[in-house]
Amino acid sequence: MGMDGDSGGGLVNGILLDASLLFASDHNNQNLSSASASASASLLPAADSLLRKLRYSKIRTGIFYEPELSAIKVCLLEEMTRLKLFDSLIAVASSIENVVSEVALTWGENIASHTLVVSGQEELCLKLRNSGWMTAILRSPGHGPANDIEFPTGSETSSSILINKLEELPLTVCHLNKKAESKENILVVGYIMKPSREEDFAKRGAFPLYPTQDGLIFLPLNYELPIPAQLQQVDILLHKATDEIVDVEMSTASEFVNTIEYTKGMQELQRYIEHHLDCCVIDPFPNICPVLDRLKIQQILFGLENLCLKSCYKIRGPRFLKVESFKEPNLQDRLFEAKLSLPNIVKPQVACGVAVAHSMAIVFKMEDYKDLNVPLPAVVQEYVDHSSCLFKFYVLGEKVYYAIKKSTPNAATLMSLSEEGDLKPILFDSLKSLPIDKKNQQLEDGVNNAGNHQIDLELVTDAANWLRNVLNLTIFGFDVVIQEATGDHVVVDLNYLPSFKEVPDDVAVPAFWEAIKWRFRLWKGVEKA
Ligand SMILES: *[C@@H]1O[C@H](CO)[C@@H](O)[C@H](O)[C@H]1NC(C)=O
Repeated sequence: MGMDGDSGGGLVNGILLDASLLFASDHNNQNLSSASASASASLLPAADSLLRKLRYSKIRTGIFYEPELSAIKVCLLEEMTRLKLFDSLIAVASSIENVVSEVALTWGENIASHTLVVSGQEELCLKLRNSGWMTAILRSPGHGPANDIEFPTGSETSSSILINKLEELPLTVCHLNKKAESKENILVVGYIMKPSREEDFAKRGAFPLYPTQDGLIFLPLNYELPIPAQLQQVDILLHKATDEIVDVEMSTASEFVNTIEYTKGMQELQRYIEHHLDCCVIDPFPNICPVLDRLKIQQILFGLENLCLKSCYKIRGPRFLKVESFKEPNLQDRLFEAKLSLPNIVKPQVACGVAVAHSMAIVFKMEDYKDLNVPLPAVVQEYVDHSSCLFKFYVLGEKVYYAIKKSTPNAATLMSLSEEGDLKPILFDSLKSLPIDKKNQQLEDGVNNAGNHQIDLELVTDAANWLRNVLNLTIFGFDVVIQEATGDHVVVDLNYLPSFKEVPDDVAVPAFWEAIKWRFRLWKGVEKA
């Protein structure tokens, strides 16, 4: 059979779940009339979340059920199969042994040694194990203290893996897949980010639990499980720290960095990393901090002006001024000294992590500053006329990609949009809606051409490489607009771990993986930056 009791049967590429694990137990409903007891069925939250994680993980997922499962639950599972939320629903007739033959019928004969069966039924697991399957027994709740987890991934006896919670399953698969390959060939990337972002990446196939050709496995970290036990499995930690900020103290403190408050889970993660330097972090918190601060970003972009790049165009950040209060009596003089002429775009200094970080305004008249409703401290920037054409650049390790997007119109058009021509400031949330010219949805001068100027990709690529070194980040994005009057390439925004949605999946996903491996090699000291 080639099954070695300890190491399992090679890489796990399929999971078969016992349906009875996915629903809350019915005991509480037993006294209700059968009508209300069976009126609805819903998955346990842990089961729902597990199926979501497995859905795009390149691990085939099946659910089997026995005749006792109520019709309403079967109905729900059938509906889920129709919606392709998992791969196969397998009805097991009278006897437990039928699982083997039914699965073989559905998935083909050769699957047994690569499929992990998860059930609460020890007897079933034992039998399957004897027929060459990998099995995991989910301990029923109350069967031993839940916190007494023998990590990693439960204890493996010669017959079965024991797990305490469904949530542990990705960790179990990761552990088995790591063990099945020789250690040097597999790198586990533990990742943490907000669920919507995770889903965006996962849907593109960026987070497989089954090893990529490059040997990467992606393990979703879960704050519900002990962090140390999870990180012990992890070689590389990928995190979007900016999703994990509870608050940023927007004081005028010079040490902006110290005023960020992370979620409890992220704090624990940080503490663990500080004491365990044997994990490559993409990217370390201190590297990310500057990107949270628009003033800091401006100061970094200022360095672009000293680059001697061969181009007839200049690349630079926008002119800017930090403002503590819009009522400052000498604001006008300070704007003048900073070479800022109206209109201006005004942004909060804090670039992310708080709801108001994207509340911005375009200001046309000096007298409108005093009542301006933009969170302070703020950064005032020149408004660059750029023919509504924005170039989004993405840096993935050593690679640079870009996409073109429609953006805000020229100042003159904006002024004509201002209600009743009174030139009141335009307030907007840059994540939700940019002020655009609804009458003219086309880019003002055709797509690839911002005004009179063609983008100088070599210039921007050189700048991207410079930024990568200065920021010391693995994955980041920045936006470039081309000033109509001068052809200056102006970097107007910079962000950490963007979605790079505009880059096609077949290009973006391998580049994303390669970027991770590139950083890992640097961290190992195998490669020079
Ligand atoms: C860049 O960041 C890495 C961690 O990602 C760190 O090990 C390295 O020392 C940093 N390099 C410089 C020049 O600061």
